[in-house]
Amino acid sequence: MTEQTLVLIKPDGVQRGVIGEVISRIERKGLTLAALELRTVPTEIAAEHYAEHAERPFFGSLLEFITSGPVVAAVVEGPRAIAAFRQLAGGTDPVEKATPGTIRGDFGLETQFNLVHGSDSPESAAREIGLWFPALRS
Ligand code: TYD
Ligand code: MG
Repeated sequence: MTEQTLVLIKPDGVQRGVIGEVISRIERKGLTLAALELRTVPTEIAAEHYAEHAERPFFGSLLEFITSGPVVAAVVEGPRAIAAFRQLAGGTDPVEKATPGTIRGDFGLETQFNLVHGSDSPESAAREIGLWFPALRS
Protein backbone atom coordinates (compact mmCIF):
# COMPACT_ATOMS: atom_id res chain seq x y z
CA MET A 1 0.00 0.00 0.00
CA THR A 2 2.01 2.91 -1.30
CA GLU A 3 1.36 6.58 -0.58
CA GLN A 4 2.64 9.89 -1.95
CA THR A 5 3.60 13.06 -0.10
CA LEU A 6 4.67 16.53 -1.21
CA VAL A 7 8.09 17.51 0.09
CA LEU A 8 9.70 20.94 -0.17
CA ILE A 9 13.28 21.85 0.60
CA LYS A 10 12.67 25.50 1.48
CA PRO A 11 14.91 28.42 0.44
CA ASP A 12 16.99 28.11 3.63
CA GLY A 13 17.69 24.45 2.89
CA VAL A 14 18.72 25.24 -0.67
CA GLN A 15 20.95 28.14 0.49
CA ARG A 16 22.48 26.03 3.26
CA GLY A 17 23.50 23.40 0.73
CA VAL A 18 21.57 20.49 2.24
CA ILE A 19 19.63 19.38 -0.86
CA GLY A 20 21.80 16.28 -1.21
CA GLU A 21 21.61 15.58 2.52
CA VAL A 22 17.80 15.72 2.56
CA ILE A 23 17.41 13.61 -0.59
CA SER A 24 19.91 11.14 0.79
CA ARG A 25 17.88 10.75 4.00
CA ILE A 26 14.70 10.22 1.95
CA GLU A 27 16.44 7.50 -0.06
CA ARG A 28 18.09 5.85 2.96
CA LYS A 29 14.66 5.60 4.60
CA GLY A 30 13.55 3.53 1.60
CA LEU A 31 11.28 6.16 0.09
CA THR A 32 11.52 6.95 -3.61
CA LEU A 33 11.17 10.06 -5.76
CA ALA A 34 8.24 10.30 -8.16
CA ALA A 35 9.01 13.93 -9.12
CA LEU A 36 11.83 16.36 -8.31
CA GLU A 37 12.30 19.95 -9.42
CA LEU A 38 14.08 23.16 -8.44
CA ARG A 39 11.79 26.13 -8.83
CA THR A 40 10.92 29.61 -7.60
CA VAL A 41 7.42 29.85 -6.17
CA PRO A 42 4.99 32.58 -7.25
CA THR A 43 3.30 34.24 -4.26
CA GLU A 44 -0.15 32.95 -5.37
CA ILE A 45 1.03 29.32 -5.27
CA ALA A 46 2.73 29.87 -1.91
CA ALA A 47 -0.47 31.40 -0.51
CA GLU A 48 -2.52 28.42 -1.72
CA HIS A 49 0.03 25.98 -0.38
CA TYR A 50 -0.16 27.57 3.09
CA ALA A 51 -3.88 28.55 2.88
CA GLU A 52 -4.63 26.87 6.24
CA HIS A 53 -2.38 29.49 7.90
CA ALA A 54 -3.86 32.56 6.15
CA GLU A 55 -5.15 34.05 9.41
CA ARG A 56 -2.00 33.40 11.43
CA PRO A 57 0.30 36.32 12.36
CA PHE A 58 3.29 34.66 10.67
CA PHE A 59 1.53 34.19 7.30
CA GLY A 60 3.03 37.30 5.63
CA SER A 61 6.60 36.55 6.62
CA LEU A 62 6.10 32.87 5.74
CA LEU A 63 5.08 33.82 2.18
CA GLU A 64 7.94 36.31 1.91
CA PHE A 65 10.38 33.64 3.03
CA ILE A 66 9.11 30.79 0.86
CA THR A 67 9.22 33.00 -2.25
CA SER A 68 12.66 34.47 -1.40
CA GLY A 69 14.66 31.96 -3.43
CA PRO A 70 14.42 28.64 -5.19
CA VAL A 71 12.92 25.62 -3.46
CA VAL A 72 13.18 21.94 -4.30
CA ALA A 73 9.73 20.45 -4.78
CA ALA A 74 9.39 16.68 -4.75
CA VAL A 75 6.77 13.98 -4.72
CA VAL A 76 8.04 11.25 -2.44
CA GLU A 77 6.45 7.83 -2.32
CA GLY A 78 6.47 4.60 -0.40
CA PRO A 79 4.55 2.80 2.35
CA ARG A 80 3.29 5.39 4.87
CA ALA A 81 5.28 8.07 3.01
CA ILE A 82 3.40 10.96 4.65
CA ALA A 83 4.20 9.95 8.23
CA ALA A 84 7.63 8.61 7.26
CA PHE A 85 8.77 11.94 5.85
CA ARG A 86 7.30 13.86 8.82
CA GLN A 87 9.38 11.55 11.02
CA LEU A 88 12.52 12.35 9.00
CA ALA A 89 11.73 16.11 9.17
CA GLY A 90 11.09 16.29 12.93
CA GLY A 91 8.78 18.72 14.75
CA THR A 92 8.00 22.20 13.46
CA ASP A 93 10.21 24.05 15.99
CA PRO A 94 13.73 22.80 15.22
CA VAL A 95 14.92 23.26 18.82
CA GLU A 96 11.90 22.73 21.07
CA LYS A 97 10.20 19.96 19.08
CA ALA A 98 12.55 18.37 16.55
CA THR A 99 15.05 15.95 18.03
CA PRO A 100 18.66 15.38 16.93
CA GLY A 101 18.77 12.91 14.09
CA THR A 102 15.93 14.62 12.26
CA ILE A 103 16.46 17.10 9.44
CA ARG A 104 15.12 20.05 11.43
CA GLY A 105 16.76 18.86 14.64
CA ASP A 106 20.15 18.53 12.98
CA PHE A 107 20.15 21.66 10.81
CA GLY A 108 17.63 24.18 12.16
CA LEU A 109 17.51 26.88 14.82
CA GLU A 110 14.35 28.88 14.14
CA THR A 111 10.78 27.79 13.40
CA GLN A 112 10.50 29.95 10.29
CA PHE A 113 13.72 28.51 8.90
CA ASN A 114 13.03 24.83 9.45
CA LEU A 115 14.36 23.67 6.08
CA VAL A 116 11.67 21.32 4.84
CA HIS A 117 7.94 20.87 4.34
CA GLY A 118 6.05 17.58 4.25
CA SER A 119 2.30 17.08 3.77
CA ASP A 120 0.50 16.29 7.04
CA SER A 121 -2.37 14.03 5.85
CA PRO A 122 -3.60 12.16 2.77
CA GLU A 123 -5.98 15.06 2.04
CA SER A 124 -3.15 17.63 2.28
CA ALA A 125 -0.88 15.45 0.16
CA ALA A 126 -3.47 15.14 -2.63
CA ARG A 127 -4.16 18.88 -2.54
CA GLU A 128 -0.47 19.89 -2.44
CA ILE A 129 0.64 17.43 -5.15
CA GLY A 130 -2.17 18.77 -7.37
CA LEU A 131 -0.98 22.32 -6.71
CA TRP A 132 2.75 21.74 -7.30
CA PHE A 133 2.59 18.98 -9.91
CA PRO A 134 -0.74 19.30 -11.77
CA ALA A 135 0.31 16.55 -14.19
CA LEU A 136 0.36 14.09 -11.25
CA ARG A 137 -3.05 15.15 -9.91
CA SER A 138 -4.98 12.14 -8.65
P1 TYD B 1 2.89 24.21 10.34
O1 TYD B 1 2.02 23.66 9.25
O2 TYD B 1 2.28 24.41 11.67
O3 TYD B 1 4.20 23.30 10.55
P2 TYD B 1 4.82 22.09 9.69
O4 TYD B 1 5.70 22.72 8.62
O5 TYD B 1 5.62 21.30 10.67
O6 TYD B 1 3.67 21.33 9.10
O7 TYD B 1 3.48 25.61 9.87
C1 TYD B 1 3.92 25.78 8.54
C2 TYD B 1 5.20 26.58 8.56
O8 TYD B 1 4.96 27.88 9.05
C3 TYD B 1 6.28 26.00 9.47
O9 TYD B 1 7.01 24.97 8.88
C4 TYD B 1 7.11 27.21 9.77
C5 TYD B 1 6.12 28.35 9.75
N1 TYD B 1 5.73 28.77 11.11
C6 TYD B 1 6.23 29.94 11.63
O10 TYD B 1 7.01 30.64 10.98
N2 TYD B 1 5.87 30.31 12.92
C7 TYD B 1 5.03 29.55 13.67
O11 TYD B 1 4.74 29.93 14.82
C8 TYD B 1 4.50 28.33 13.11
C9 TYD B 1 3.57 27.46 13.91
C10 TYD B 1 4.88 27.97 11.83
MG1 MG C 1 1.98 21.96 8.08
